[in-house]
Amino acid sequence: MNNLALFELRKKDGVPISMVTCYDAWSAKILDQTDVDCLLVGDSLAQIVHGFDSTIYATDEMMALHTAAVARSAKKKFIVADMPFLSCSRGITHAMKTVEKLMRAGANALKIEGACHQLEIIEHIVASGVPVMGHLGLQPQAIHNLGGKKVQGKEKAGADQILSEARELQRVGCFSLVLECIPRELGKCVTHNLEIPTIGIGAGPETDGQVLVLQDLLGLDENFSPKFLRKYANLHKTISSAVDKYHTDVQASDFPSSSECY
Ligand code: KIV
Repeated sequence: MNNLALFELRKKDGVPISMVTCYDAWSAKILDQTDVDCLLVGDSLAQIVHGFDSTIYATDEMMALHTAAVARSAKKKFIVADMPFLSCSRGITHAMKTVEKLMRAGANALKIEGACHQLEIIEHIVASGVPVMGHLGLQPQAIHNLGGKKVQGKEKAGADQILSEARELQRVGCFSLVLECIPRELGKCVTHNLEIPTIGIGAGPETDGQVLVLQDLLGLDENFSPKFLRKYANLHKTISSAVDKYHTDVQASDFPSSSECY
């Protein structure tokens, strides 16, 4: 199943949802053959693919280009694309232009960070027939406002605000909600208080699903090891050893061999 019904069903049956980020055609082709439930063309691609130090550098054009590459290669998966920085802060007309670009690029749904001033716009997008996934807790697009990359909702006031914004996002029609870097207890509390599924990253095991950045779970960055991350492979080592072996073979005139020539 690769549609919205999957999210409802998973919450009803208590079977956790798995989501990973995906930014390009080659990884989309691999992920399309896995059991993972959902792909996220996250604005983290600004950092992971383009080398910026923040997600605020992801533009409409970048998001549309990467969404299209993923959609061409992952025909069986539900694809969520991130609305980039400020796309909902410049009013409905601007937001709807971005919505149109990303949906035409092949997204099945859009993820929007934050709530407060954007609730009306989110409601409008949902009413236009576009499924919206919310995103609360640590919001990388608002990092300067949140006091840096730190766990959100540790104090009662912050936790209450996250719970109340989560309820608001559900009210305006979000079909699910990402919870990033919040205490486990808060992840559990928000999850139990919502009818829509929550998908956590650094939000503990009691959310209705989990999301990780593909490159992080594959261990591509040796130096990135936050507490919430489990590395399922060490591709940094695998890739550098393979390329070093290739280099050695080229220098030794051992590649190509006679069976590798036309
Ligand atoms: O952009 C992204 O990768 C995300 C996930 C961390 C949830 O928003």
